[in-house]
Amino acid sequence: METRAVYPGSFDPVTNGHLDLIQRSAALFDKVIVAILSNTEKIPLFTVEERAEMLEEVVRDLKNVSVTSFAGLLVDYVERVGASVIIRGIRAVSDYEYELQMALMNRRLSSKVETVFMLPAESYSFLSSKLVKEIAQLGGSIHGFVPADVEKRLCSKLRIK
Ligand code: PNS
Repeated sequence: METRAVYPGSFDPVTNGHLDLIQRSAALFDKVIVAILSNTEKIPLFTVEERAEMLEEVVRDLKNVSVTSFAGLLVDYVERVGASVIIRGIRAVSDYEYELQMALMNRRLSSKVETVFMLPAESYSFLSSKLVKEIAQLGGSIHGFVPADVEKRLCSKLRIK
């Protein structure tokens, strides 16, 4: 039977760490659905449409990966698309507490859905969308932290802001 996994997140914007995890997941699961949360309390830099475009560009060659957005409860979305796995990345111990809480709550909300924690390459263990935005905003180089298209979009977005 086909195993579908959902990789949810804000992806504001997608980093090379996210991409690394998507590639690892694509090798493990039959289908990976990258799902952008659209109704977040955080004020995003990029619109959902822009984030989806950037993600679509970087997963173009991964045939079993698709990009969508969702609103509402993650477990409801996961069940709706016929998936049984939620993928979350753990970069360091500091991520674990929040991720554990979410995974256990999601398990309480739906016993049909399993969370799988994955580790990105260690060279990305310090990387986050938040830091990338901050560095770019303050004029630092984000080369190597995000895909080339994202770097370009980030620079032009911040220049006009
Ligand atoms: O990349 P992020 O911002 O850490 O992703 C967080 C995300 C999208 C996985 C989380 O906020 C989420 O699942 N939101 C959907 C609403 C929901 O289901 N909340 C209950 C979680 S236990």
